[in-house]
Amino acid sequence: MKDTKIYLTDNDIPKQWYNLAADLPSPMHPPLGPDGKPVTPDMLAPVFPMNLIEQEVSRERWIDIPPEILSVLYRWRPAPLRRARYLEQYLKTPARIYYKDESVSPAGSHKTNTAIAQAWYNKQFGIKRLITETGAGQWGSALSFACCLLGLECKVFMVRVSFDQKPMRKTMMKVWGGQCVASPSMDTEVGRKILAQDPTTPGSLGIAISEAIEETVKDKTGKTRYSLGSVLNHVILHQTIIGLEAKKQLKIAGEKQPDVVIGCAGGGSNFAGLAFPFVNDKIHGAKMTVIPVESSSCPKMTRGVFQYDFGDVAGMTPLLAMTTLGHQFVPAPIHAGGLRYHGMSPLVSQAIVEGLLEPRSCDQVKAYEAALLWAKTEGFICAPETSHAIAVAIDEALKAREEGKAKVILFNFSGHGLMDLVGYEKFLSGELQAYELPESELCASVDKIKGLPAAARNKSGKW
Ligand SMILES: Cc1ncc(COP(=O)(O)O)c(C=O)c1O
Repeated sequence: MKDTKIYLTDNDIPKQWYNLAADLPSPMHPPLGPDGKPVTPDMLAPVFPMNLIEQEVSRERWIDIPPEILSVLYRWRPAPLRRARYLEQYLKTPARIYYKDESVSPAGSHKTNTAIAQAWYNKQFGIKRLITETGAGQWGSALSFACCLLGLECKVFMVRVSFDQKPMRKTMMKVWGGQCVASPSMDTEVGRKILAQDPTTPGSLGIAISEAIEETVKDKTGKTRYSLGSVLNHVILHQTIIGLEAKKQLKIAGEKQPDVVIGCAGGGSNFAGLAFPFVNDKIHGAKMTVIPVESSSCPKMTRGVFQYDFGDVAGMTPLLAMTTLGHQFVPAPIHAGGLRYHGMSPLVSQAIVEGLLEPRSCDQVKAYEAALLWAKTEGFICAPETSHAIAVAIDEALKAREEGKAKVILFNFSGHGLMDLVGYEKFLSGELQAYELPESELCASVDKIKGLPAAARNKSGKW
C-alpha cells in the first residue's frame, strides 16, 4: 500500500516563492489612489515597509525566501501531505484525495506562513509594532506568534462576532504577547462612528481593516506598520510555499499532477498558496480544474462584480480591481469568520476573469455536514472555513465515482477547528441554517460602488 502521509525533509523545503503575476496571460490592473491614478510605492510607505511594497509590485517569477525565514518555518514546515484514504473508502470513490495539512502550524492554520515573513521583513525595515485585523482569529493569533518570535509588538482588531464566538483565540494572542480588541472599537474614529450608528453590529473584516489602518497611520514615529493576512500580492506570494511543497509530495506519491485543486477562499491566500504553482502548469498546457470555494453568504466570486473597489469599509486602502460585493457589505454572522470578506485578491480575481479558475459557493449547513463526515472518517476537526473546501472535495469525489474516473483531487486543509467548537455545537443542536445572500441585498450593496472606476475584463481567450 502507498503511504498515507507524505513528508519532506527540512532540506526539501522550497527556497523560493512563486509569483503568478509573472505568468498571467492577461495584464493585471494597477491599484489606484483616491485621484483615480495608479498608486506609487511611496504612497503605500506609511502603511507597509518598502521591502514588502517591492514584493507587492514585483513581476519576478521566483523570489528567494531569506534563510532566516526558513529557519523559523522549520518548526512545522515542510507540512505533511496526507491522503484521505478513509474518506475515499466511505465514499466508495475511485478518486485519490490528497490534502495539504496547514493545521500543523503553531497558530493552527496557513496564516502563520505569511505572518512570519511579514514580521521578518518589517523587523528588517526597523519597525517595532504591527497592527492588524482578524476575522476568525486565525490571522491575529498567527501574527501575534510571529511578532513574539521576532520581538515586535502586535495589536489585533478582531471582528466582533468572532471575538464573542471564539474567546480562546484572544487568549492565544495574549499568550504570544499580542493585544486583541473587538472591532468596531472605541479606539478609532471609524470604530466610534460605526458604533454610534449601530451599537450591536457584528462587525466585518472591512471595518476591522479600516480601524487597523487608522491606528497605524496615527503613529507618527515611523515605527508602526499595518499587516494584512490575505488579499494582497505579497501575502499570496508567501503562501505559495504550500503548493510548491505539495508538488514535490505528489510526485513522491507517484502522481503526475492533480486533476482537481480546491481551496476555500476568504481573501484568497490559502487557496492561491496551494493552487498558484499548479495554475502555472495549467497556463503551460496541463489540464486541471481549479476551484476556489466561498461561503454562499458572502458570494463575491460567483455573484459579485469585477471592478475597482476599496479593501475596507472606510475607503482607506487603494482601489483594487477585484470581484467584490461592495466594501460596505456586512455579511451575515456565519461561523466561518475568515470567509466574511467582501472582496477577493486581485491576483485570484484576474485568474477568474482569465477563465483559469472555476469558483463555487457552499452554504454553512453543507459545510458543517462535510466537516462532520470528515471528523468521522479522517478524524481531524477542521476549521469552519476549511469545511467549505472539504464539501467541494466530496462533491468532486462523488462525481468521479459517477464518471468511473480515478481522479486525483488535492485540497488545502487550511486550519484545525479546535478553537471553533461553538460553531460545531450550534450545528449539532440544529441552530444553524443554510443561508444564501438575497439578491436584493446583493444589488443594494453593489449599487453603492457604482461610481468607482470600472475594470476591463482583460482576457487572453485561451480558457
Ligand atoms: C482556517 C482558515 N482557512 C481559510 C481562511 C480564509 O482566508 P484566506 O482566503 O486568506 O485563506 C481563513 C481566514 O481566516 C482561515 O482562518
